[in-house]
Amino acid sequence: MSSQFHSSSPIGLFDSGVGGLSVLREIRQQLPHENILYFADQIHVPYGARTLEEVRALSETITRWLLAQGAKMIVIPCNTASAAALHFLRQKFPEVPFVGMEPAVKPAAEQTQTGVVGVLATPVTFQGELYASVVERFAQGVNVLQHTCPGLVNEIEQGAVHGNGARHILEDALHPMLNQGIDTVVLGCTHYPFVIPLIQEIAGPNVRVIDPSPAVARQVGRMVGEASGEGQGARGEVRFLTTGAVEQLQRGLRNLLNLEAPVEARPWNLIEKEASFYGK
Ligand code: DGL
Repeated sequence: MSSQFHSSSPIGLFDSGVGGLSVLREIRQQLPHENILYFADQIHVPYGARTLEEVRALSETITRWLLAQGAKMIVIPCNTASAAALHFLRQKFPEVPFVGMEPAVKPAAEQTQTGVVGVLATPVTFQGELYASVVERFAQGVNVLQHTCPGLVNEIEQGAVHGNGARHILEDALHPMLNQGIDTVVLGCTHYPFVIPLIQEIAGPNVRVIDPSPAVARQVGRMVGEASGEGQGARGEVRFLTTGAVEQLQRGLRNLLNLEAPVEARPWNLIEKEASFYGK
């Protein structure tokens, strides 16, 4: 790894909004000394309703911005951005270590007893080549059903994780899959771990819900060791930034992580300007 990075340089994380906090929570538990810069692109949320090209362009700008801020690695705790941009970003920035997300179809296929598993994710995630390749590589002989949850990301952004809105969306997604015999549900969007209690209530105790966040955090731990010498010198500081309103992210931190923390707001045009300083 290049010597321009120090162990105290932050790990850059980005998501369309509060979804990545489900992964941040795990990273904080496993790597409490790492400094983290969490970027919520809430002016553009939800990503899942955009085109692959749009999400790729947003992801490139944010990645550049995080690197311009001195991030030593980029974690994309967002299945949608990973589906649209991970491969592209690795090619564009070969000097940077990346950790992305893909739906956890592999453990689901290994664990299912009925041979039927369900995946919940956004339309962009299902369109991407990453998803198709995961199913092809890991789910031979398993029936993989998929469903989007239109509107669910917005409910979670509002903190309405126990409300009727979220419940109805999840019932619409889960009932057809339950009728076809799923015994495992893969959460293919990082917003969804915040509604696990609702999912479990609808699906019943015999259905296993797979949240990939702990595995992603372990992967970050392995890579960060390589990138910086195990986080010595870092003080476990987390900086939160949104392209939307400060209160929007603060409300998410309070409702979803029970955390009161300062949040910086940066308008998108400034992000674009500052992003252009990296690699030019
Ligand atoms: N949290 C995201 C994901 O994992 C993005 C959802 C969205 O913005 O639509 O897919």
